[in-house]
Amino acid sequence: MVIPCSTDRRTQEPVASGLSREFTRFIDSTPREQTVNYERQQNESVAKVAVGKSSFVYIIKKPISLVMAIQIYLDNNATTAVDPQVLEEMLPYFTTHYGNASSTNHVFGKKASAAVVRARERVADLLEAKEEEIVFTSGATESINMAIKGVFERYQSIGNHIISCVSEHKSVLDVLRALEKKGAKVTYLSVDKDGNIDLNELEEAITDETVLISLMFANNETGVIHPVKEIAEIARDKNILFFCDATQAIGKIPVSVKEIGVDMMALSGHKIYGPKGVGALYVRKKSRKIQLEPLVHGGGQEKGMRGGTYNVPGIVGLGAACERCKELLKKDGKRIAKLRSYLESALLNIDETFVNSGDAKRLPNVSNIVIRFIKAEQLMANLKNVAMSSGSACATGSLDPSHVLMAMGLDKEDAHSSLRFSLGRFNTEAEIDLLIDMLNQKVTKLRGESPVWELFKKGVIT
Ligand SMILES: Cc1ncc(COP(=O)(O)O)c(C=O)c1O
Repeated sequence: MVIPCSTDRRTQEPVASGLSREFTRFIDSTPREQTVNYERQQNESVAKVAVGKSSFVYIIKKPISLVMAIQIYLDNNATTAVDPQVLEEMLPYFTTHYGNASSTNHVFGKKASAAVVRARERVADLLEAKEEEIVFTSGATESINMAIKGVFERYQSIGNHIISCVSEHKSVLDVLRALEKKGAKVTYLSVDKDGNIDLNELEEAITDETVLISLMFANNETGVIHPVKEIAEIARDKNILFFCDATQAIGKIPVSVKEIGVDMMALSGHKIYGPKGVGALYVRKKSRKIQLEPLVHGGGQEKGMRGGTYNVPGIVGLGAACERCKELLKKDGKRIAKLRSYLESALLNIDETFVNSGDAKRLPNVSNIVIRFIKAEQLMANLKNVAMSSGSACATGSLDPSHVLMAMGLDKEDAHSSLRFSLGRFNTEAEIDLLIDMLNQKVTKLRGESPVWELFKKGVIT
C-alpha cells in the first residue's frame, strides 16, 4: 500500500497523512515531502516505511487499519450517510425513469407515479399509517411548518393557544416565534434536570383557547424520549390536536402512529439513511378530520396540500430508507445501544465526567457527555478526525450554550463542556475503541495544560 507523506512544519517530522500522530511514532525520520511505501509487518503494531532511498519504522501504538484512523463519523443525529441499498434504488429515477409523476399520460410519467405510490406505501408501513395519510415534503422543517402554521391558520378563529416545550428543536421554536408575532399565544413547558416534561404541567397549561400541542418524540441533543402516548391521550380527551416532531425517533425506535394515537407527525429522509431534501408529514385521517391550510400552493400535488413537481428520486429514497429501517430496526437498535453503553462506561472512567439525561429514557444511539473543565470546542479542535457535536450553538457570531442543556439547568460551563456523540448504522466497535483512546489522551493533555483544572485539583474551585 502507498500512503502520502508530508513534513510537519513545526517539528519537521514526517507525517503519514491519514495516520494521526496519536497512533504513530517515528523511530527514525527523514523530513521531506515524499510518498511512502507502507508494508505491514507480521507484528501488527509495527509498520516499515520507506521514503525515497531511506527507510524507517513507525511504531503503531494500536493495531488499527489506516482507513479507520482517517475519519470517524459520530454525528448521525445531524445527518446520516445514504444507505447504499437506498442509493441503488434511487439512481434509475435520475437517468432512466425521469418522468414527471404528474404526467401520467405516458410511460415515463406512469413509471414515476408508480414509484411515488410505492414509496408512500413504504413510509406508511414503517409508521403503521395509511398511504393517504402521508404528505411528501422537502424535509422535517417543512413538515413542521406545514403542521403548526397549517393548524394555526385554519383554527385560530376557534383558539389561538399552542402548547410546546423549551427543549424543542429550533425548527419548531422558530415557527412558534413567527406565529407569536401573528397573535398566537404559546406556553412553553419546562423540563427537569434530565430533560423530561411533566404531564401535570401540560394538563394545567390547557385552556379553552388551546388548539394544538406540539411536542417532540425524542430530543436531538440528549435523545430523551417524551411520553407521546400519554400526551396523545391528554390531547384527545380535551379535543386538542397533537403534532409530534418525530425526526430523531423514527428509524431508531419503533414508532407507530396507530399505537400512539397522534394527529400529525414529521419525519425526514436524511436522518434515516435516506437522501437530504425529502421528508413527510403524517396527517391522521380518521374520525376527526384535520384541516390544514397548505403552505405551498400550485399544481395541486398531494391533494392540494403541497404543490410542486414531485422529487421522485428523493421520494423513492425516502421510501427505501423507511423499508430498510423497518428491516434493521431491532438488529441496529441492539447493536448501537451496546456500542453506546461501551462508549459511555469508558468515558465515565475519566475524572469529572457525567452523562446529560443519563437517568432518562433515551434513544439508543445518543450520548451527550460532559467532560468538565475542557471546552467541547477545544476538544473537537484537537480531534479533527472525529465528527461529533458540541453543547454550544453558533448564534450571531458567538457561541451560545445549548438551549436544551440550559433548560435542564446545566451551568454554562458544563453546557460548553458537553459533547454529543450520535452513533449510527455504519459505526463499528473498532471506531469506538479508537475514540476512547484518543479522548483519553487529549483530555489528559488539555487538562494538563489547564490552570482551571489545576485550581480544581487543589480544591480552590469546585
Ligand atoms: C428534532 C429535529 N427536528 C427537526 C429537524 C429538521 O430536519 P430537516 O433537516 O429535515 O429539516 C431536525 C434536524 O436536525 C431535528 O433534529
